[in-house]
Amino acid sequence: MTATATDQATDRAIDRSSPVAVVGTGTMGQGIAQVALVAGHPVRLYDTAPGRAKTAADAITARLDRLVEKGRLSAGDREAATARLAPAETLADLAGSDLVIEAVLEQLDVKQRLFRELEDVVSDACLLATNTSSLSVTAIGGALRVPGRFVGLHFFNPAPLLPLVEVVSGFATDESAATRAYDTARAWGKTPVRCADTPGFIVNRIARPFYAEALRVYEERAADPATIDAVLRECGGFRMGPFELTDLIGQDVNEAVTRSVWESFFQDPKFTPSLAQRRLVESGRLGRKAGQGWYAYGDGDERPEPHTAAPERAPVAVAVAGDLGPAAALVELIREAGIEVRETTPHVSARSGYLELPDGTWLQLTEGLAATSALRPSLIHFDLALDYREAGRIALAPSGLAPHDGLAAAVGLFQALGKKVSVVRDVPGLIVARTAAMLVDFAADAVSRGVASADDIDTAMRLGVNYPVGPIAWGESLSASWVRALLEALHLEYPSARYAPSQALIRRSETQKASRP
Ligand SMILES: NC(=O)c1ccc[n+]([C@@H]2O[C@H](COP(=O)([O-])OP(=O)(O)OC[C@H]3O[C@@H](n4cnc5c(N)ncnc54)[C@H](O)[C@@H]3O)[C@@H](O)[C@H]2O)c1
Repeated sequence: MTATATDQATDRAIDRSSPVAVVGTGTMGQGIAQVALVAGHPVRLYDTAPGRAKTAADAITARLDRLVEKGRLSAGDREAATARLAPAETLADLAGSDLVIEAVLEQLDVKQRLFRELEDVVSDACLLATNTSSLSVTAIGGALRVPGRFVGLHFFNPAPLLPLVEVVSGFATDESAATRAYDTARAWGKTPVRCADTPGFIVNRIARPFYAEALRVYEERAADPATIDAVLRECGGFRMGPFELTDLIGQDVNEAVTRSVWESFFQDPKFTPSLAQRRLVESGRLGRKAGQGWYAYGDGDERPEPHTAAPERAPVAVAVAGDLGPAAALVELIREAGIEVRETTPHVSARSGYLELPDGTWLQLTEGLAATSALRPSLIHFDLALDYREAGRIALAPSGLAPHDGLAAAVGLFQALGKKVSVVRDVPGLIVARTAAMLVDFAADAVSRGVASADDIDTAMRLGVNYPVGPIAWGESLSASWVRALLEALHLEYPSARYAPSQALIRRSETQKASRP
């Protein structure tokens, strides 16, 4: 048991001496059982496949041995833990459990049947939990005699390592049951968040645009996977890009989540799956596990390099016209690079601030419209960075009419700031900006629909998928008005319900405008 787990234990959590049962002892069941075991509970394992529970117990013991070797568990604690671990022969052996966590096949009828049978075995006070990631908690618990004690406890893989647990309340879940589940997860050293029973819960719902926008940019042939990955990592601050991440997760697994969320939302266009990913799955290119996904993983295969522009000369001076909004930090960086910065009055046609290069080309943070426009031929868009000072790369999208000299100067300018530059096709909203705007909107929408609190959403996205900042906090720093304007422009470019800003974002931007002095 860790010190943290002890400190965080509360009297609403399941008592440490109480038996916990785990049903379904595959990948998740084993991980969850290990967590409960190390937290001090007696743990019983049950699986319908003959011998599987015993194999799982052996695998957990072997993992504890490795923790001892690494000095993360004492030999005494390992002995005590394994003495508390027992495979069960039948479901009836789980009588006396105070908490049962189910991690069986992701199939509604299988889970429903299991819980109905479990109710005949355990007491009415026993907390029942499902680890489902895509089924409705309400539907699984629908046929229970005592449905109030049924809750979702969604762990992430690998459960012993990843701190996040989504505690999901179905329509019938009692508040006391959700609180008990929450406190138990905390007592186990996890970081639980509360959420309502809606498709994808928090993480699998809000993360969808991270994959979908990258796939759309790729499908428009605006950039290749290696470049999109590099821009999202080095400019967006994400730990991994969507193509390399889905190769790791498995294209089939990632696509199945997307399809399940899309189907569950009655094919809402905001969640439409990608044709490119469908083809990848159909062709068996499932990612690392298949040796081939977006990238090849055979011996000697090398990851393709992102497109990076060759060195160009920086301009000696640029003019700043108006407020650069979320890119305002660039002005200071340009000065620090020894490039003269003049201030100039923005042109009447400019919707937002821009940098003017010596040849008259405008360099503007993407506003969601394509750069190519007869009204302003010499326009180059640059992408949003999580932090312009820290960013190692920036994507530029020149108008199809932009002069070569302007593009060379724009590339040279960012190179003088120490950034690598990826020139991509003129895609509306570029790469990071459209991804961030969609994540912010999905998060704002989820809060307003009562899926979870703003804090829990940010915690879930940082811990569940390693985002550098929570989408609610990112939206606040960008401003709801900026995000809304970007989405409205994308909505003009791609007229469908996909990019229409949510009511929640619109209200937030109106509130911000009203409170501005
Ligand atoms: N794998 C993940 O990354 C992940 C993450 C979060 C949640 N989940 C969810 O966890 C659950 C389990 O996923 P997994 O990846 O561990 O699956 P898995 O295939 O590794 O293991 C499932 C186990 O359940 C057993 N089983 C099937 N029907 C059973 C029944 N009626 N009673 C008892 N045992 C039964 C199987 O024999 C198998 O050992 C699913 O609901 C899944 O959606 C998975």
